Amino acid sequence: MKTIVVTGGAGFIGSHLCEALLTNGDRVICVDNFVSGSATNIEPFRANPHFAFIEHNVCEPLVIDDHIDQVYNLACPASPVHYQRDAVLTLETNVIGTHNMIRLALGAGARILQASTSEVYGDPLEHPQKETYWGNVNPIGVRACYDEGKRAAETLCFDYSRQRGADIRVVRIFNTYGPRMAEHDGRVVSNFIVAALRGEPITIYGDGSQTRSFQFVSDLVRGLILMMNNESFIGPVNLGNPGEFNMLELAEKVLRMTGSASDLITKPLPSDDPRRRKPDISVAKKELGWEPVVGLDEGLEKTIAYFATVV
Ligand SMILES: NC(=O)c1ccc[n+]([C@@H]2O[C@H](COP(=O)([O-])OP(=O)(O)OC[C@H]3O[C@@H](n4cnc5c(N)ncnc54)[C@H](O)[C@@H]3O)[C@@H](O)[C@H]2O)c1
Repeated sequence: MKTIVVTGGAGFIGSHLCEALLTNGDRVICVDNFVSGSATNIEPFRANPHFAFIEHNVCEPLVIDDHIDQVYNLACPASPVHYQRDAVLTLETNVIGTHNMIRLALGAGARILQASTSEVYGDPLEHPQKETYWGNVNPIGVRACYDEGKRAAETLCFDYSRQRGADIRVVRIFNTYGPRMAEHDGRVVSNFIVAALRGEPITIYGDGSQTRSFQFVSDLVRGLILMMNNESFIGPVNLGNPGEFNMLELAEKVLRMTGSASDLITKPLPSDDPRRRKPDISVAKKELGWEPVVGLDEGLEKTIAYFATVV
């Protein structure tokens, strides 16, 4: 039985990861300050004797008097609504928080997996995005606290690996969706589904031709665990679903699947919003034998079923 720390474990992805690790028979120590996650997400695990929770802000050093094998560092608000609410705290979480979690792992002789993001590619000038692409990021824009913060976090991981021998793994996560996404966090899949279920207008930013690739959360969690347990490949590796859809296609799919009569309305594109995003996953296929298996229709069906119980 491994002892595994999951920071951000009360969030959307983190709670699915905690669940998968507990199902695998591991001990999980979930660390979260609920800045964007929720106690409800981890409620089902509280009775499990292999689950422990520490309420803690990763910007403060963390001491765990226990043997630790692995640390998944997911702590960071992930949606623009959440990460722009306190941009300085987001940057601190990415830089100081990651620094603290690397030091926790290093001190414990544990491996750390850093949850990075496709946002490190910014508004990409290469399509699809390979891990070798260095990105096109505005360092002073409203998204920089997240994009540049995650880039700095990757730098910290690789410098700690080269300089101090930290045992790191770095994954770049592309748009992920599924049950337990926060209802009001402004992410496109949850926005569209919640509006459709309530019969409220669905907002399309710009002309709706901007594309995204959407990965169902169970595919991502499988990839995170494979990467953490890979003995030789440290990354970075893209984890995402290469299926590419524009916002109008997504809205129409959601309307059809929910049977909703919601109107589509348009608003101007937010600043620095990337026009296209699609992962090249050939590295994940080669190094991890990983590729997504849940298609958009199947994933949307599960996500709609979840939101139907909460909205
Ligand atoms: N969901 C996606 O599409 C996506 C895409 C790329 C990367 N990621 C990364 O995956 C991770 C999880 O994302 P998510 O979608 O589950 O987001 P989320 O906001 O649901 O979860 C983040 C969790 O981290 C916690 N947290 C934030 N700051 C913290 C701090 N200072 N100390 C302790 N806990 C803190 C939050 O309370 C929350 O529970 C994030 O690091 C995010 O950047 C997510």
